[in-house]
Amino acid sequence: MTPPKIFLMTFFSVILSVCDIVESNAGGGPTTPETCMNMKPKHGVEPQSDPSPYTIYSSKSEVKAGETVKLQICSSKEKIKGFYVQGRKMDFMKETAPMGSFMLEEGSEKNSKLVSCSGGIQNTITHTNNNPKEHVNFIWNAPKEPGTYVIVCTIAKNGATFWVNETSMKITVI
Ligand SMILES: *[C@@H]1O[C@H](CO)[C@@H](O)[C@H](O)[C@H]1NC(C)=O
Repeated sequence: MTPPKIFLMTFFSVILSVCDIVESNAGGGPTTPETCMNMKPKHGVEPQSDPSPYTIYSSKSEVKAGETVKLQICSSKEKIKGFYVQGRKMDFMKETAPMGSFMLEEGSEKNSKLVSCSGGIQNTITHTNNNPKEHVNFIWNAPKEPGTYVIVCTIAKNGATFWVNETSMKITVI
C-alpha cells in the first residue's frame, strides 16, 4: 500500500521546518531578555521531561567570593550539540538574574563563547557551532555576594531533543 501523497508532503515539510529552526541556533543561543531569563531554545518543540543523560561536574562545592570553579558538562551516552549556561541563585526559578561570570577554558574557544545577559558582563556561556561535542569545559567566577548558587544549563542533544534547567550541585560562596 502506498501512503497518500498529502501525508508524505506533510511529513517532509515538518522535517524541513525542524531543520530550519535548528539551523538558526547553530551559532549559540540569543541574548534576548526572554531567552536570558528562561534559557529555553526557540526550536519549536518543548524540552524533554525525562532525566537528561548529562552530568554537570563542579570542581568545588564551596568557594570564597571571586574565586573560580571549574565545570564540565558530559555524558557517557550522548554528545552535546548546543548549550546555554548561567550561574544562578539556588532558587533559580524565581531569582532569574545570572550571577557571577564565566571564563573560557583554554582551548575551548572553538566550541564555546561568552555572552552577556541582563546588563551583566560575560555571565552566560553558549556554543559557537552545532558539531557534536564530547564534553564542554568552562570556568565560573563566583559572585561577591555570599549565598548558595547553582550552575543552570540548557543542553541540546540536537535541535529537537534538549533539556532545560539542568543543574550542577550546590556551590556555596562564603
Ligand atoms: C526553567 O527555569 C526558568 C527560570 O529560570 C523558568 O521560567 C522555566 O519555566 C523553567 N522551565 C522548566 C521546564 O522547568
